Amino acid sequence: MRTFRTIAELREVLAPIRPRSTVGLVPTMGALHEGHVALLRAARRTCDVVVASLFVNPAQFGDPADLSTYPRDETRDARMATDAGVDHLFVPTVDEMYPAGYATWIEVEGPARGLEGDFRPGHFRGVATVCAKLFTIVRPHVAFFGQKDAQQVAVVKRLARDLNLDVDIRVLPTVRDADGLALSSRNAHLSREERRRALAIPRALEAGLTAHRAGRDPIAAARAALGDLDPDYVAVADFDSRPTLAIAARIGSTRLIDNVPLDETATGAERLAPAMNTPTMGGDPT
Ligand code: PAF
Repeated sequence: MRTFRTIAELREVLAPIRPRSTVGLVPTMGALHEGHVALLRAARRTCDVVVASLFVNPAQFGDPADLSTYPRDETRDARMATDAGVDHLFVPTVDEMYPAGYATWIEVEGPARGLEGDFRPGHFRGVATVCAKLFTIVRPHVAFFGQKDAQQVAVVKRLARDLNLDVDIRVLPTVRDADGLALSSRNAHLSREERRRALAIPRALEAGLTAHRAGRDPIAAARAALGDLDPDYVAVADFDSRPTLAIAARIGSTRLIDNVPLDETATGAERLAPAMNTPTMGGDPT
């Protein structure tokens, strides 16, 4: 695996490859976990050349503390990327991506409105801008994203469609720990006790899904199952034409999001309730 820190060097290597190979991109902010590994492996299986980016994008963080405490470990990430079969790792600096005088931002409307868009003003502007830049730099045929960030997926799909970016956006299911908690780089901030409390989120999604299938209100059921967790929201949203039950909640100083598509298959639903079903973890589909 080769590591590139400049746009020019990465472009030089990809230019002759692109006409005869399928290029896959997995955009990440590093702090890789098995959810990322599932995306990297899917890219490896389906593309000739796999590019992964590690870039903690300051433009998508509203809270400076969230940005400064975001976990970073390039050595570990590079090892995981190598093991997952990545060919090219793109690790630009902030100056490389946003040089002095940078002034162009992409504002997606529709799917970026509401939920995360309300609670994290400017977040999707930063995500859309960095994704558009990564798509322009790498010019991948396929880009891989995780269902855990369902609203982000809807935003990126709309971005690609509206700007005719000619990239196929593939989405892989959320990877969960054996106890049901969705993998997230932010889980590293949870204490033991906070992690125990966070399990109310997948339990609430499971309760909501069960209620929905029984013709009852998924939001009321999910809220009831959250117990003493005070969520930012519990909502059913139409993400990329899929009705999805989404939850965001703070546990201590860590904000977690998770969701379940309400048209989820039984197999997918079982992953939410490991205490009641055989745990499934990692692998692919996630
Ligand atoms: O999901 C993420 O890790 C980030 O939002 C992304 C897509 C890499 C853009 O910075």
